Amino acid sequence: MVARALAPPPPASAPRPLRVSLVGAGYVGLVTAACFAELGHEVTAVEVDATRLGRLRAGVLPIYEPGLDDLVDRHRASGRLQVTDGYEAVSDADVVFVAVPTPPRPDGRVDTSLVENVVRAVLVRSPRATIVIKSTVPPGTIRRLEQIASAEGYPLARLVANPEFLREGQAVHDFLFPDRVVIGTRDREAGDLVAALYERLRTMTYRTSPEDAELAKYAANVFLAARISLINEVAGIADRVGANVSQVAAIVGADARVGRSFLQAGLGWGGSCFPKDVGGLAALAQDVGASSAMLDAIVAANRDARSRATEIVLEAVRGTTHPVVGMLGLAFKPGTDDVRESPSIALARALITMGVEVYATDPLAGENAARVEPRLHIAGSASEAAAGADVLILATEWPEFLAPDWHRIAHLMRGTVVLDARNALGAGAVIAAGLTYRSLGRDVLGRDAAALEAVACAF
Ligand code: UGA
Repeated sequence: MVARALAPPPPASAPRPLRVSLVGAGYVGLVTAACFAELGHEVTAVEVDATRLGRLRAGVLPIYEPGLDDLVDRHRASGRLQVTDGYEAVSDADVVFVAVPTPPRPDGRVDTSLVENVVRAVLVRSPRATIVIKSTVPPGTIRRLEQIASAEGYPLARLVANPEFLREGQAVHDFLFPDRVVIGTRDREAGDLVAALYERLRTMTYRTSPEDAELAKYAANVFLAARISLINEVAGIADRVGANVSQVAAIVGADARVGRSFLQAGLGWGGSCFPKDVGGLAALAQDVGASSAMLDAIVAANRDARSRATEIVLEAVRGTTHPVVGMLGLAFKPGTDDVRESPSIALARALITMGVEVYATDPLAGENAARVEPRLHIAGSASEAAAGADVLILATEWPEFLAPDWHRIAHLMRGTVVLDARNALGAGAVIAAGLTYRSLGRDVLGRDAAALEAVACAF
């Protein structure tokens, strides 16, 4: 891997660091606040949730994010990062960031009311504020906020869209070494100010209209989700024609026009972003009279991947009186304790509803999973999840689950089927332990010795 570094800090003669106020010290807010402090700015994070603030002050982060605790500790100690529950700091700030949640409504439309409330609260204290919306907001939100500001007597307020592209688990890295920074505003000076905040990042900066910036954020997530849905459809076809989707994806991804990332077929996408953003854009398309045919298909294909996994398990336990499944992984992806819209939990729920008992384990997400699905049995380890199971499912591809002692697992299980729902296991090792390898897109490996041999040769 090539080592990457920030541009050096500005010389002492450079203009003073910028004062940043940031409302909402949740996942995106806290990463943004800590990283701006790392870039040399003076940051005050406003968090109105008393419990969260108390924990933050005691040095306990509300989320699991590698590297963030260190950054927060360091900059609270250096004095460049303060946390508070009051809005006082916004009056002195050069720039005010808004990073509050924009949850989906039941109809898929995005609820931006928290963003609007915060913007109003900032303007009361700082009528000429430069307010930067970091929260993911549907295209047209900045325009509406501009109208609100004007109508409510703040014509000098300046609004900017500055979307984030942070992956959970790699958010600090993604902030400091981004593929691009997007600054969408109709006010050139406000745009210059926000660009100055990011000056030390060696990256491409796009200065755009607010609508371009807002839509680009949604489009980026929709493109990524679409790739996964598409490769998952190819996986479904692969299983029916005796092909191996991992090989197919490698070949397709070698085309520079396609690229290799986000072609890992399996149980599908989840998390707090893709489902909300694909649904939010589809709802917006409807509202503005545009087509959402592709967006709807992306969602349907994602559901299909889980249904295929459910069918494989039900087929394997047909005729069993009290079917039991072991599940490895509950987080929506490895490296996080986040279970929002987790495909593993959706699969577990479907199975539980069909009368299957599920014993699941996860390195970090067990507690969160038990909260959202109390019918799950949480196991302390992979062996515990496998013990007595008719089927063992790899549902989230944590590295620690990829190469267990399969002979021991075979000994512990009641049945023999291992469902590799992330196409991440070594099929040969599973089979060598006397187990039956099933998969979403590589079923051929469990059926056809020649296919397995071909994979062994390729690696
Ligand atoms: C995603 C985007 O990747 C970020 O760029 C974006 O900023 C963020 O949403 C957001 O909008 O805030 P994240 O939700 O952390 O980040 O997760 P990803 O790493 O993108 O994974 C999303 C889902 O797709 C996971 O369930 C993962 O298991 C699945 N996935 C990913 C696949 O099934 N196959 C793949 O090849 C890649």
